[in-house]
Amino acid sequence: MKKTAHIIVFGNEKGGSGKSTTAMHTAIALLRLGYRVGTLDLDARQGTLTRYLKKRFDYITRNRDHLPSPAHMAIERSNCESVGDQQAEEEAFLIMALEEFNHVCDFVVIDTPGTDSFLSRLAHSYADTLITPMNDSFIDLDLLADIDMKNHAVKGPSIYSKMVNDQRKIKRIRDGSEIDWIVMRNRVSHLNNNNNKIITKLLETISDLAGFRLAPGFGERVVFKELFLKGMTLLDLKEDIEGGLTMSQISARQEVRNLITTIKPELAKGYAKPPTISKKKTA
Ligand SMILES: Nc1ncnc2c1ncn2[C@@H]1O[C@H](COP(=O)(O)OP(=O)(O)OP(=O)(O)O)[C@@H](O)[C@H]1O
Ligand SMILES: [Mg+2]
Repeated sequence: MKKTAHIIVFGNEKGGSGKSTTAMHTAIALLRLGYRVGTLDLDARQGTLTRYLKKRFDYITRNRDHLPSPAHMAIERSNCESVGDQQAEEEAFLIMALEEFNHVCDFVVIDTPGTDSFLSRLAHSYADTLITPMNDSFIDLDLLADIDMKNHAVKGPSIYSKMVNDQRKIKRIRDGSEIDWIVMRNRVSHLNNNNNKIITKLLETISDLAGFRLAPGFGERVVFKELFLKGMTLLDLKEDIEGGLTMSQISARQEVRNLITTIKPELAKGYAKPPTISKKKTA
């Protein structure tokens, strides 16, 4: 198979860091830029991305409104008896899904579970871009680097960055290409407190050591939870609704756009022609 679709994997071995939320926003932002996008849920057991899209399709059916939506697939964990058979089946399904999307998509957005698994590791090895959302906590930092908490010195990489490094080697051997790893802070507190400053400084040091770029993050905003319930993203909100958008919604939308700017989709796929926008108002 000649690979043409650009694969963006959302990964972090820490649960609840915002992988599914950012994966959904990235997929819809790319669609709205005019790219063809497929989404793949490797966390089918929890199925957050799958449920998010289901709510979106329900909204579209109920309101007869057009919202751009990706082609979507989910891969379940294998039930085969032996570990070898499980891994072979999961690998076969992942490759099959990627081949399907490869023909019809510019970008494939993959959401992974917040735990280490064979399927998640394998998906990392196919990432052209890897995005790791993390919360502003030392628990999250600990997955990226081994830090001496007494003096905040970075001692070396830790489990997640070692795993990414291993997958980088596998990808290099497989097709000679690199993973562009981007770490983004999520649910950043609006307060410029001491914790915030220490994490900023540590992340800059770790980024050199572990080989990732830092993206401007997303703030802590209730709107993300509300939008999930409607199957919508910040990019679907229209300015001409009654009362207009709140300052928080405008800022949050800008944060999503900043993430897309950091991903640089135009470098991978050129500039796309934006689709014509539906005239119907979306609340
Ligand atoms: N920037 C944010 N502000 C406020 N809430 C957020 C933000 N990002 C995500 N959330 C909320 O945090 C929760 C976890 O987010 P999400 O499901 O995207 O994380 P995850 O990394 O995919 O989790 P898991 O590892 O369990 O799959 C959700 O309730 C989501 O709405
Ligand atoms: Mg998730």
